[in-house]
Parts: sequence; structure tokens; C-alpha cells
Amino acid sequence: MRIVTGIRPTGELHIGNYLNTVKQYIELQRKNECIFFIADLHGLTTPYNPATYSKEVMEKTIDILASGLNPEKCIIYIQSRIKEITELMCLLSMVAPAGDLRRMTQFKEKSKKHPKYVNAGLLNYPILMAADILIHQADLVPVGKDQKQHIELARTIARRFNNQFGETFRVPKALTLKSSAKIMSLQSPKKKMSKSDPPQTYISIFDEPEILKKKIMSAVTDTGKVIKYDPNKKPGVSNLLTIYSLFSGKPIKTAESKFKGKNYEALKKSLATLLINKFEPFRRKRKDLLLREVYVKEVLSQGEKRARVLAQSTLEKVRKKMGLA
Ligand code: TRP
Repeated sequence: MRIVTGIRPTGELHIGNYLNTVKQYIELQRKNECIFFIADLHGLTTPYNPATYSKEVMEKTIDILASGLNPEKCIIYIQSRIKEITELMCLLSMVAPAGDLRRMTQFKEKSKKHPKYVNAGLLNYPILMAADILIHQADLVPVGKDQKQHIELARTIARRFNNQFGETFRVPKALTLKSSAKIMSLQSPKKKMSKSDPPQTYISIFDEPEILKKKIMSAVTDTGKVIKYDPNKKPGVSNLLTIYSLFSGKPIKTAESKFKGKNYEALKKSLATLLINKFEPFRRKRKDLLLREVYVKEVLSQGEKRARVLAQSTLEKVRKKMGLA
């Protein structure tokens, strides 16, 4: 199977994102032909800082390499480097249904969130996504639930094009990523952990041991002393137990009995140690890559070359079918 997916460049990778995305990409890369890219053009559709942007894109690349994407097994590149994608986006916009674009949930939500930044780029976001996917003739597109509507639109665009100009694109399918048990904020455990909240509320897989420990030790817990899984009455402790279970690979019940009769501090200490050990290889790899800029650039340039070959071949066909010389 050929698998294609894009990763937005901004924001740290917190433990929830890691489980819901990168960890699953790593499993997919074992048995499939995988193409991963940093969606730096999509990142321009909402407010950003041009002065730091290219650095953020590089850091995101390092983060995904450090968390296990293997450039020997998959193609990794930066979206904006492949100009064929932007040309294909222009051509696909001739068959993309304009009405559907305005009805996309993400367009409505982001327009509301950034009322001064409602640009055509945000409206056309799904056409760019369709170009990302269709240019590589992808079979499957792993995405979270929030992106499924965009994949539906990419399928519509592919079908419309094939009907109008003759069979050209493979019609891709969405592969819905498993979303693991919800991980909540360390400071307000009734709210989902989010990288747009302050750092003490989330755990990054790259947090230094002292920082990680501090975050967990100061996580909000509940009144009482008993360590019990009860998300309604004990959201704080339940969240810690959930995290413990997800990263130890043991059921919540087992974690509960392990801490029976112990206090919150014992649970927190044990969880901190578990996570510090678990993420040690990620931290080490990231530090190493931060010092090897030449290597990282080489990985990207190799990925770019391989991606371009696929992209050029599709674009050539599309131009011909559309009557361009
Ligand atoms: N829009 C996706 C997100 O926000 C990222 C993305 C860009 C993407 N292009 C893609 C995902 C193509 C899948 C396929 O997560």
C-alpha cells in the first residue's frame, strides 16, 4: 500500500499527539511504502511568524526523525520544496466544488478563531491537501477524525477529475488513526491535554527528566487519598493512571493494584520514572540530530528527490489530460 500523510510544522509533540499520530506512522512504515511530509504551506493559512518559521520546520523534521520515522524506510520531505504540488493544486482547483470549500468544518472553525486572517489560502486548504495526496497516487491517508472531511473532498476531486478528463488518479481512502484513551491536561484534568496550553499542562516526549518530573509532581490531583480509577470523581488521579497504563502497556486495573495503599506521591514518582526511561532514546536521538544539521538536510534532500520523481510523473499526465502543452 502507498501511504501519504502530512504533518503540520508547529507545536511540540505531546504524549497524546505521539500516541495518536507518530507512533502509528512508525508501525505503518514497516509494511508499507510511506511518504511523510512537513506541511509548511498549510502552516501559512493561520497566523505564524515568518522570522522563526523555517527553524520551526527544521525542528519538526528533527522531532519526527527522533521519534522513530526512518528515512531508510520512508520518504520524508518538505511540502513547499515540491513545486509540482502547488501546480497540481492550481489545476485541481478547476474541478474542486467551490460550495463544498465554504462548508468545511475546519474552515468555519478557523475563520471564527482568526477572524482577521480569513484568506483564500484557508478556504483552499483542502485543495492543497488533495494535491498532496493525489500527486503520489496514494492508496491510504492516515488522519485523525478532524481531517476526514478533507479526505472525502480529495476523493470527490479525484473522481470528478477522472470523470471529466479520463482515468488519472487513484481514489485514496482515509485510514482513521486509532485515538488512544484520552489524555487530559495535568493542571485541569477535565480538559484535554493540548499543546496550545501552557507547558506545565502537557508532557512532551522530549521533556528533560527534571522538567518532566516537576510537571508530574505538580499535576493536579483530587481530594482524598485513595488511588482509584474514577474519571468523574477523581479526574486527576485517573489521568495519571491512564498515562501510566498507556506507557507501561499494562491495564489500568494492574496499575491500580500496584499502587493500592500507596499515596499520590508514590504514583507520581513512579510515573515520572517510567516516562523518563521510556522517552530517553527519543531525547538522545533528538539531541544528536540537533547537532547534525548536514545529515538532516541530506535526508530531506533525498526525500525531496524521490518525491519529485513521483510528482512529476503524475503532473505530466494531468497537464496532458487537461490540454496543456
Ligand atoms: N491538514 C493536515 C492536519 O492538519 C495535515 C496535512 C496536510 C495532511 N496535507 C495532508 C494530512 C495530506 C494528510 C494528507 O493534520
